[in-house]
Amino acid sequence: MGRVVDPGGDDEERRVEAALRPRRLADFPGQHRVCDQLGLVLEAARRRGSPPDHVLLSGPPGLGKTTLAMIIAGELEQPIRITSGPAIQHAGDLAAVLSSLVEGEVLFLDEIHRMSRPAEEMLYLAMEDFRVDVIVGKGPGATAIPLELPPFTVVGATTRAGLLPAPLRDRFGFTGHLDYYATEDLATILHRNADLLGIAADEAGVQQIASRSRGTPRVANRLLRRVRDWAQVHGEDRVDEPAARAALNLFDVDELGLDRLDRAVLEALCTRFGGGPVGLSTLAVAVGEEPDTVETVAEPYLVREGFMIRTPRGRAASRAAWEHLGLTPPADAGQRVGGYPGAPVEAGTGRLGTPAGQDPLPLDD
Ligand SMILES: Nc1ncnc2c1ncn2[C@@H]1O[C@H](COP(=O)(O)OP(=O)(O)OP(=O)(O)O)[C@@H](O)[C@H]1O
Ligand SMILES: [Mg+2]
Repeated sequence: MGRVVDPGGDDEERRVEAALRPRRLADFPGQHRVCDQLGLVLEAARRRGSPPDHVLLSGPPGLGKTTLAMIIAGELEQPIRITSGPAIQHAGDLAAVLSSLVEGEVLFLDEIHRMSRPAEEMLYLAMEDFRVDVIVGKGPGATAIPLELPPFTVVGATTRAGLLPAPLRDRFGFTGHLDYYATEDLATILHRNADLLGIAADEAGVQQIASRSRGTPRVANRLLRRVRDWAQVHGEDRVDEPAARAALNLFDVDELGLDRLDRAVLEALCTRFGGGPVGLSTLAVAVGEEPDTVETVAEPYLVREGFMIRTPRGRAASRAAWEHLGLTPPADAGQRVGGYPGAPVEAGTGRLGTPAGQDPLPLDD
């Protein structure tokens, strides 16, 4: 993994993270709305003494879907079985998991949008009727033996809720959509994790890290570890503001969390293409990357922060992009998105961009 601001995590990182996951809803900062709603659903189930509705958690990588799934099992005081869409390629794989569940157990299905179609169909039957049809034998002699399942709770997680077929999505009684975190919530998370890791960190240091973390706890945790490294190597015993600034500058993460690739994209847009609009593949060639890398790695954050505008004619820089690079924006910066002067402006939507879980509009090239 090349980028220190990558919201995804590799296997090694996920192991490190496991130790930092909060275990109770009350210890989970941020996502207040989802937490309140989820808390209610779980409390009601506990009082009824029966498993809650199935829960779907959607949202961009690194925001706490897996963490919340573990918390759900913890709050219900039930065991959790963990598997994922890609691990279930045959309906038989799913049948094996389902038929071994015990009453009340939580079944966590990560990347649920990547399950095969037959498995999906088996799953929504099981979620609705607590029943699976086990096929015995092959060919014309095959028979389906219905198998009753004890009540259980599916917790599904997905970064792409839009890819779930409607019948499956409808089987979830509660859907929690996770959004990017406010800086204060990231600061709370950082203070807690610094304590857990035995790192002395002061408020100003934590604020520096939080404000460069792209609203994403996984990125915040990773930046904290890099700043800790910097402090150790420089013989500092605490993470303070100068240490955080020096370390994050060293790793090319600027004040707003943009890294080298993000800035290269904006710079190409502004200086080579006069602010755009320019096609994705042309832009990618200009920064020496694959179009896919620009689209999936740099673009989501640039669009969300209102630096880049996606238009039917290509990508354009907003006024904020010019200003962030210290360049003087042309008088009509960000105004040419429709391809003609005075066309409607789409810029400045702040933290909106493409709603997570929804696929971006297909655009130009
Ligand atoms: N609200 C939070 N409080 C504290 N730590 C958090 C919170 N949300 C996420 N984290 C931390 O961020 C890291 C990533 O979280 P998690 O693995 O739950 O994300 P995810 O949404 O499942 O990501 P992915 O889509 O990549 O699977 C973990 O180390 C977790 O402890
Ligand atoms: Mg996860």
